[in-house]
Amino acid sequence: MKLIVAGGTGFVAVEVIRQAAQLDAITSLVVLARKAAPLPEGPGASKIKTVVIEDYERYSDEVKAEFAGADACIWTVAVTPIKALSLDGAEVKRVCQTCTMAGLKAIWEANPAKPFRFVYMSAEGLPADPNKKPYLMAEYMLMRAETERLVRDFAAQHASEGFELCIAQPGLVTAEGVLWQTLRLFNAIPGLRSVAINISRGELAAAMLERTVDGFGSKQEMKNAEMVRVGQAALQARRARSG
Ligand SMILES: NC(=O)c1ccc[n+]([C@@H]2O[C@H](COP(=O)([O-])OP(=O)(O)OC[C@H]3O[C@@H](n4cnc5c(N)ncnc54)[C@H](OP(=O)(O)O)[C@@H]3O)[C@@H](O)[C@H]2O)c1
Repeated sequence: MKLIVAGGTGFVAVEVIRQAAQLDAITSLVVLARKAAPLPEGPGASKIKTVVIEDYERYSDEVKAEFAGADACIWTVAVTPIKALSLDGAEVKRVCQTCTMAGLKAIWEANPAKPFRFVYMSAEGLPADPNKKPYLMAEYMLMRAETERLVRDFAAQHASEGFELCIAQPGLVTAEGVLWQTLRLFNAIPGLRSVAINISRGELAAAMLERTVDGFGSKQEMKNAEMVRVGQAALQARRARSG
């Protein structure tokens, strides 16, 4: 499988790339980034090719040629809520929405394999109703929800040509450490479970890769709880295989 990881320098993408490099099922890994991404060392490193672009909105013919024949893409590019607080709203929308749609179209026009699997990284808890304003970061949350709808529309238009979509909807993504262990304690308390929805980035990366390789099934999204379950099972199976 040839996999594109878009946003290769990001927090989640770095872990996706690290794990993907170790998977035999992934034979070619195209890392799309604005600067050289930190690449893993070891036997899987030789299958990685970094493609540096200036802007996720524009794709030259040379860049599109790198996408040709790809079987899947995991799209992680976005401005996260914390970073959005210090950026102009129009630029946040451009990166999260315009760039996602531009990247998606560029990859699709580049003649990928069919079926082609596209994982779009979104978040759990976005407003389903565009007329209902959330209390916190309303403009941002509505824009991310609208982006999900645009990606779903694109998938619907191209489903008969082999385009397959999975929207990954994590809660808070944590590095494996003290914060993660504390949040996991919250998960054990029924009343607090919903305010502390979280997943470690190891589990998240494993879940997205598992579905990318094995297929999305009939559902078009994966919520946090499902990704924790799928991710933990995948990591456990890999540990068992490696003895
Ligand atoms: N982290 C979480 O807790 C969490 C929770 C729920 C959902 N998510 C979603 O998961 C996805 C990945 O999150 P992450 O934590 O890996 O985010 P991240 O570390 O901020 O990485 C995001 C990617 O987007 C690019 N990006 C960010 N700002 C940009 C800008 N102004 N112009 C162009 N590119 C920009 C980054 O490129 P550069 O490295 O070149 O800046 C990076 O490749 C996002 O959609 C996020 O909303 C994250």
